[in-house]
Amino acid sequence: MPDILDVPTGRRPTAQPETHTGRFLIISVVAALGGFLFGFDTSVINGTVGALQTQFAASSWVLGLAVSSALIGSAIGAFSAGHIADRYGRTRTMIIASGLFIISALGSGLAFSLWDLSIWRLVGGLGVGAASVVAPAYIAEIAPAHLRGRLASLQQLAIVVGIFMALLGDFAIARAAGSASNPGWFGITAWRWMFFSGLPPAILYGLGALFIPESPRYLVAKGREQEALKVLRDIEGDTAPSKVVEIRRSVRSDHTPHLADLKGGRFGLLPIVWIGIVLAMLQQFVGINVIFYYSSVLWQAVGFSEHDSLLITVITSVTNILTTLVAIAFVDKIGRKPLLIIGSLGMALTLGLMAYLFGTAPVDPSGKPVLQGAAGTTALIAANLYVVFFGFSWGPVVWVLLGEMFPNRIRALALSIAAMAQWMANFLVSATFPSLQAIGLGWAYGLYAAAAVFSLFFAVRFIKETKGRELESM
Ligand code: GLC
Repeated sequence: MPDILDVPTGRRPTAQPETHTGRFLIISVVAALGGFLFGFDTSVINGTVGALQTQFAASSWVLGLAVSSALIGSAIGAFSAGHIADRYGRTRTMIIASGLFIISALGSGLAFSLWDLSIWRLVGGLGVGAASVVAPAYIAEIAPAHLRGRLASLQQLAIVVGIFMALLGDFAIARAAGSASNPGWFGITAWRWMFFSGLPPAILYGLGALFIPESPRYLVAKGREQEALKVLRDIEGDTAPSKVVEIRRSVRSDHTPHLADLKGGRFGLLPIVWIGIVLAMLQQFVGINVIFYYSSVLWQAVGFSEHDSLLITVITSVTNILTTLVAIAFVDKIGRKPLLIIGSLGMALTLGLMAYLFGTAPVDPSGKPVLQGAAGTTALIAANLYVVFFGFSWGPVVWVLLGEMFPNRIRALALSIAAMAQWMANFLVSATFPSLQAIGLGWAYGLYAAAAVFSLFFAVRFIKETKGRELESM
C-alpha cells in the first residue's frame, strides 16, 4: 500500500491554509440538526401533557413514565452511540439516529395508550442520546482548530432553537385547535400533530447525513487515509499529507476502542474521563432543565396565570438562544475556561438569590410560597439572569469541551460515557424536583446554587484551556 506521504499533493501546501468556511458551515449545520432534534424531542411533550392526562385518564405515575422515558432512552442511546460511531462511522450513526427520530414521531403521534407512548418516547430518546454524542464528536473532528469552538457551539444553538420551536409549535397547534385535546386538521387530535411535527426535521437530518463527508479522524482510524486526505483538502483547502500522518499517530487503528481503553488511574477510569463525566453532570446539577420543564410552577408562585407562565417560558427560551450567540462570538476569542468561570459565578449568585427569596417567602394555605411585589419581580429577573449566565457558559461550553477534550483514540467512546452521565443527571434532577419542591422551593434552588459554587471550583481547578489547540495535541 503506498504511504500517504507518497501521494502527490496536487497543490503546493501554503503556510496559511485557506479554510472553506461556507462549506464547513453546511456540514456543521447538518450535524447540528441532531442538536435541534435533541431540544425538540425533549421539549415537545410539554404541550401535550394536559391532553394526554385527559385522553388516557392515567395516574400521574404513568404520565411521569411517558415524560421521563425519553431521558432514560437518551442515556442508553448516548452509551451505545460511541461504540456504533467508532465501528460504523459518524455519518452512519446520524442516519440511524434519524431513523429513530422518525419512528418515534410517528409512533408517538399514533399512540393508543400511555404505555406504548412511553415506548415510542424511549425510542426517540435513543436517537436524542445518539445525536448528543455524534454531533459534538463529528463537528470537533472535522473543524479547523481556530473555528472549532464556534462551530461546536452551533450544537447548543441548535438545541435551544429546538426547544424554542417545540414550545412555539405546541403553542400554535393548541391555539389553532382551541386546545391540545381538540380535533385539529383532518379531525386528528391536536396533541398528535405536536408529535408529528417532529417528522420533517428528522427526515431532513437523515437526508443531510447522506451527503456530508465522513470524519477524517474516523477514516484514518479505519486505515482509509487517502479518503481522509481528500476530505481534509475539501474542507481546509491545501492540507499537507503530513497532517494525516499526525492523525495516524494519535489514533490506534489495530482495534475499535472499547471500554478497557478508558481504564486507568487511581479511580478506575482515566482522569480525563472522570473530568468529562463530572463536567457533564454539573451542567445538569445547576438545575437548568427545571426552568424548562417546570417553569409554570415557578411563575405561578409569582402570581402569573398558566397561560402567561407558558409565554414566559417561551421568552426564556429566546433569552437562551440570544445568549448562545454571545458564546459563539467569544468561545474562540476569550476561551472556554473564562466563560465557564464567569458563568459559574453568575449562576451561583442568581440561584442563591432565588433560594433566599423562595426560602423566606410567606406560604399560602396549600403550602405554596407567595412572592409578591418587589420580591416577585426580583425572582423573575434573577431566573432570567440565571439563564443568561448558563446560556453563554456551561450550556454551550460543556458540549464544546466534551467534543474536543479527549484524545482522538478514545474520543467517541469517552464522550458517550460522559453524555450518558449527563442524561442520568438530567433524569435525577427532573425526577427529584417535584419532591424537593414539596419540601420547599428554597431548598431546591439552594441545592442548585451549591452545585454552581462547586462548578466554579471545578472549572478553576480541573479545566484546561483548549482554545485554538489541534485535536492531535489533546
Ligand atoms: C444544554 C443541556 C440541555 C439543556 C440546554 C438548555 O444543552 O445539555 O440539557 O436543555 O442546555 O439550554
